[in-house]
Amino acid sequence: MANNFLNKTLVAIDIGTTKICVLVASLDYKGNLEIAGIGQVPSHGLKKGVVVNINKTVKSIKKAVVQAEEMSGIKIESAIIGISGGHIKSFNSTGVVAIRGEEVSQADIDRVIESAKAVAISKNQEVLHVLPQYFRVDGQEFVLDSLGMYGVRLESQVHVITGAISSAQNIIKACELAGIKVQDLVLEQLASAEAVLTPSERELGVGILDIGGGTSDFAVYKDGKIIHTKVLPFAGNHFTNDLAIGLGIPIKKAEELKRLYGFVNEESYLDLDRDKVEISLEYDGGTKNIETYSLYEILNPRAEEIYDLLFEEIANFRLKSFMPSGLVLTGGGSLLAGMKEIALKRFRTQVRVGIPQEFNDKTTIPDLIKSPIYSTGYGLLLYSLRKKDVEFEYGSDVSLVKNVFGRMKSWVWDFF
Ligand SMILES: Nc1ncnc2c1ncn2[C@@H]1O[C@H](COP(=O)(O)OP(=O)(O)OP(=O)(O)O)[C@@H](O)[C@H]1O
Ligand SMILES: [Mg+2]
Repeated sequence: MANNFLNKTLVAIDIGTTKICVLVASLDYKGNLEIAGIGQVPSHGLKKGVVVNINKTVKSIKKAVVQAEEMSGIKIESAIIGISGGHIKSFNSTGVVAIRGEEVSQADIDRVIESAKAVAISKNQEVLHVLPQYFRVDGQEFVLDSLGMYGVRLESQVHVITGAISSAQNIIKACELAGIKVQDLVLEQLASAEAVLTPSERELGVGILDIGGGTSDFAVYKDGKIIHTKVLPFAGNHFTNDLAIGLGIPIKKAEELKRLYGFVNEESYLDLDRDKVEISLEYDGGTKNIETYSLYEILNPRAEEIYDLLFEEIANFRLKSFMPSGLVLTGGGSLLAGMKEIALKRFRTQVRVGIPQEFNDKTTIPDLIKSPIYSTGYGLLLYSLRKKDVEFEYGSDVSLVKNVFGRMKSWVWDFF
């Protein structure tokens, strides 16, 4: 029998370039996670994943929150929030320390990660995550966990992710003005990965590309750990803009056309049931005939451009050998016909489109959110599920960002 008294509420807000999505989940005393409410509204006020208009963003957040509250019957006060955008930077770094006793202690591990973190980052950036990858004792083989090993010299390799302080501040401010306390800021591709990758993919090694509206967010996992992240500055909205400009039609029409008939691989042309589409142009009451093949001609180069950037990133950082499980595409942009097919050709590896998954019998996902569009939102919930026992108290407004950043750094210890 369900014990409502012990139910906990988890709330995630994906503040995307095209939509703001609020997910409310309830967690019962047995650990069952169920979605209790969804709120979704178009996002106004973001460009390429970054808040550019606070007032518009606040309005959209408020609207989505009210929707989710009405559906769930739960008052939303705080939430876990995603962060992305071109300001996100990442790099690997190594640290070395002398082991204090005979064997590696937790304090040595803490110190070596601290030393790996001690790198110069530009003034306006703040460390978001420090994700330990490997350890090495006395120059021997890399290991995942060095605790208790004998030696004198401990090395660590970590993945450091930084973001612009102002971008994080703007997201936090927008949420606060909408009446929502920010529990945590999570890099969006880490959240998406949580929702769509299987544990075995993460162990063996896999790449994930979340093609959103404003940015395409990439991450590589190996041995269950993040080894690389990158935010690419092109995504779904660029396809829409290309159509609007190329065909001389309004953005709204271009978006409709892209979703209904757009494709980026030539073979999909055979699947279309028409060579031409007629669209109405409200502004002058006229119509326009568009050849469906021209959609391919306009959309394909943009898809190739995104994959060229990804290919370059994979080659520059020699990542291919870390991706035996291939590439998982997610985000709304992965719904564009042919994205998977041309990725298969380009990367010569397995490619699948990832949607939020039920990984055990304790999670129930409504069909509505089994779409790549909800990967980040659902992944954020899973993050907050992991952190459910950790209470986080905010100090004054001034220290809010510092607190959230501080807390993000602290994830290191309980993620892996
Ligand atoms: N059926 C579809 N076919 C093609 N494209 C689609 C389809 N559905 C959604 N999209 C595209 O997906 C994009 C939005 O994806 P998503 O909701 O993941 O982005 P977002 O989270 O708002 O943005 P970002 O993560 O970049 O901040 C839009 O560009 C939209 O046109
Ligand atoms: Mg997104």
